[in-house]
Amino acid sequence: MKSIVILISGRGSNMEAIVQACIAEGWDARIAAVISNRPGAAGLEFAANLGLTTAVVDHQAFDGRAAFDAELQRVIDGFAPDLVVLAGFMRILTPAFTAHYAQRLLNIHPSLLPAFTGLHSHARALALGCKFVGATVHFVTAELDHGAIVAQAVVPVLADDDEASLSARVLVQEHRMYPRAVRWFVQDQLALENGLVRQLSGEAQSFSG
Ligand code: GAR
Repeated sequence: MKSIVILISGRGSNMEAIVQACIAEGWDARIAAVISNRPGAAGLEFAANLGLTTAVVDHQAFDGRAAFDAELQRVIDGFAPDLVVLAGFMRILTPAFTAHYAQRLLNIHPSLLPAFTGLHSHARALALGCKFVGATVHFVTAELDHGAIVAQAVVPVLADDDEASLSARVLVQEHRMYPRAVRWFVQDQLALENGLVRQLSGEAQSFSG
C-alpha cells in the first residue's frame, strides 16, 4: 500500500478531489497526512473532518526558505510517504527539498506548461488574448513549474471570460485530472524516461473541457 502526503496552502479543493477518489475508487493507498504552511487553510478542516491526520508547518515562523523546507521535510518524512502531492501549495521550494523527493513529488499548475509559469497564469493568458488555457500535472524539479509533464487539461477561452470564470472552468478539469494522475502513480503506471512521462496502461494523459 502506498502512503501519500498532500501539501496545501488554502482551499484544498484538489486535495479534496484526490482524497475522495482514493476512497471511492478503493486505491491501494492511504492519505498519511495533509500538511499546510498556513494555519488557517480551509482544506485542513475538510481533512480533519474525514479523520485524516493534519499538520501545520507555518512558513512565517522560519528565517528563510532553507530552514522552512528542512522542517517541512522532517515532518513529511515522519509519515514515510511514497508520494508527496502539492495541491495548491503556494511556496517556492529549495533545490535540496526537490532533490530529496525526486520522482515522488507531483504538482498541479493552472496553465498549459511551459507557458505561464508563476502566479496569475489565467489573468496573463487573458491579457495576451490566448484562446486556450488549462492546467498541468508534473513531477517537480528545482526549476519552478518545470519537470516532466504527467497530464494536461485544455479549456477554451470564451468571449466574456474573466479570471474568475476561467479559473472556475479550469478547476473542474483539475479535479478530473489530478486524482487520475495520482492514481497512476499509486498503480505504478507512470514511466519516466528521458524527461518524458508515459502512462503505461494507455489511458489518455490529455483532458479537455
Ligand atoms: C489550483 O487552481 C492550483 O492549480 C493552483 O492553485 C489552486 C489551488 O486550489 N496551484 C498553483 O497555482 C501552484 N502554483 P485548491 O487549493 O482549491 O486546490
